[in-house]
Order: sequence, then C-alpha cells, then structure tokens
Amino acid sequence: MMRTLMVMAVLAVSPSLAWAQADKPAPTIKREAAKPVPASDGAQMYMSYCSACHGKTGRGDGPAAAAMKTKPTDLTQLKKTHGGTYATKEFQDKVTGASMSASHGNVDMPIWGPIFRDIGGSPELRLFNLKQYIDAMQMP
Ligand code: HEC
Repeated sequence: MMRTLMVMAVLAVSPSLAWAQADKPAPTIKREAAKPVPASDGAQMYMSYCSACHGKTGRGDGPAAAAMKTKPTDLTQLKKTHGGTYATKEFQDKVTGASMSASHGNVDMPIWGPIFRDIGGSPELRLFNLKQYIDAMQMP
C-alpha cells in the first residue's frame, strides 16, 4: 500500500508580475507531492525540492519566499555564517528535521526526512548529493 507522499515541493501560484502591485496579497503556496527526482542528481533535486523557497542560486529568494513567515535561509552564506565550515551532520539534521525548531507548525521549511524515506531511492544519497550541490554554491 502506498503511503501518501505528503508534501511539499512548492509553488507560488500567483504570477510574479502581480506581486509588484501593492494591493495584491502575498502569493499562496501550493503543496504537492515531491517528484521522484533521481537521488544521484544534486542539481535536479535542488531545483525540484529546494529552489521554490531558497531560490535558483540559493540566495533565499525563490518565488515562494514572499509567502513564508520565516525568510528562507540564504544557502550561499552557510559557510560564512557557520564559522567557515557547514558540517554535514548539521546540514542533514536541519534538512531531515532532526534539528529544526521544536514545534511542528512553526517551521516553514518542509521536514524532508519522511519525504525522502517515502519517495524511494537512498535518503542518504539524496542528502549527500544535495550537500555537495549546496557546498558548491558557497560564497568565500
Ligand atoms: C517551503 C519552503 C522551503 C523549501 C521547499 C525548502 N526550504 Fe530550506 N528553509 C526554509 C526556511 C523558511 C528556512 C529557515 C528556517 C528557520 O530559520 O527556522 C530554511 C532553512 C534551511 C536550512 C538551514 C540553514 C541553517 O541556518 O542552518 C537548510 C540547510 C535548508 N533550509 C536546506 C534546504 C534544502 C536542501 C531544501 C530542499 C531539499 C530546502 N531547504 C527546501 C524554507 C524551505
């Protein structure tokens, strides 16, 4: 039996042009099942699972960012903001939800642990390749 793929890959619905008008409400976010992108492809996973919020280049400026209570982290600064290295363990704990802020419902970032387990392919490989991809976008 298939467990429901809750989730999450995220799209802002209103076209970006409309946001420019002051009287428009913030875009709403549509949550849909995460696509089963290959675990071997960090770039493709990033684009499907992360870029809606964190932005194509990681700066935290994706189309869904405007609808978030907490601004998505600028992922290009992780090395800088974490004293020169962003540890794999810390990355994994954040992304899988092991160390995201305690209470459910307060966190805008999807909890990827269960999603990666449901979606098939190796969750470890997914995390590894996503980390590689994000490492490569670090600003000096
Ligand atoms: C629905 C929007 C959304 C999506 C999709 C999303 N994130 Fe996030 N992410 C956030 C927000 C918001 C925060 C800041 C959370 C906080 O500060 O509590 C965050 C924080 C993070 C952090 C923590 C950085 C730190 O300070 O340690 C990492 C790492 C991260 N995201 C990676 C990812 C990865 C990898 C993906 C794709 C697999 C992803 N995010 C998908 C919204 C999102």
